[in-house]
Amino acid sequence: MPRAGDRTGGAAPFEGLPSIRRARTAEAALLSRFMAHAFLDAFGHGSRQEDVLAHVRHHFSAARQSRELTDPACVTLVIGPPGDYAGYAQLVFGQPAPEALQAQAPVEMRRFYLRRDLHGRGWAASLMEAAKATARERGADALWLSVWQQAPRAIRFYRKHGFETIGTAVFHVGTDPQKDWLMACRLPAGG
Ligand SMILES: CC(C)(COP(=O)(O)OP(=O)(O)OC[C@H]1O[C@@H](n2cnc3c(N)ncnc32)[C@H](O)[C@@H]1OP(=O)(O)O)[C@@H](O)C(=O)NCCC(=O)NCCS
Repeated sequence: MPRAGDRTGGAAPFEGLPSIRRARTAEAALLSRFMAHAFLDAFGHGSRQEDVLAHVRHHFSAARQSRELTDPACVTLVIGPPGDYAGYAQLVFGQPAPEALQAQAPVEMRRFYLRRDLHGRGWAASLMEAAKATARERGADALWLSVWQQAPRAIRFYRKHGFETIGTAVFHVGTDPQKDWLMACRLPAGG
């Protein structure tokens, strides 16, 4: 099974990153592969294999990415050229937010990944800033997300970037109910 760090094309390693941009519809197949690999690498060990594979098939097919990339409510930001991604973030507008979040215009950060071999370089921070800027541009005043309670690195990262825990949620990997934290941060205008 390929891992998130496998190269799917392209040449240069990521010396000068980041250049962060919105993914194009034509990238659906490449992006779905990267998303699947990133999920397997980060969370593949957390549930039974059949549950993990069911989750990947459901959420990361090329057809699903085509739909998400053409959905005006969904914004997918990527770092890196097609097929040589370093990471991605996905925002979904217009979703019901957790009740504990008191906000006029909350937006969900549904997915946020950086390749494992690129962790710790500050590039995830750049991706987060770009995601926050995109959310603000579309009028959002808060960002919320759900993160696995057994993902301490991600939780620490989100805390560093202004997120606080506002509750718990159940996240299904296939048939496996996993315990998540709900986290949120304010997006002050101009901030
Ligand atoms: C979440 C993610 C994007 C953050 O990117 P990153 O480059 O790793 O982030 P940073 O290195 O800036 O921050 C990670 C922090 O966690 C800390 N950390 C690392 N391992 C840790 C652990 N086991 N427990 C607690 N903190 C830990 C790091 O020291 C760093 O904190 P510091 O800057 O105060 O030293 C990246 O780790 C990732 O893609 N993870 C896998 C996918 C994932 O979990 N996505 C979130 C899904 S909701």
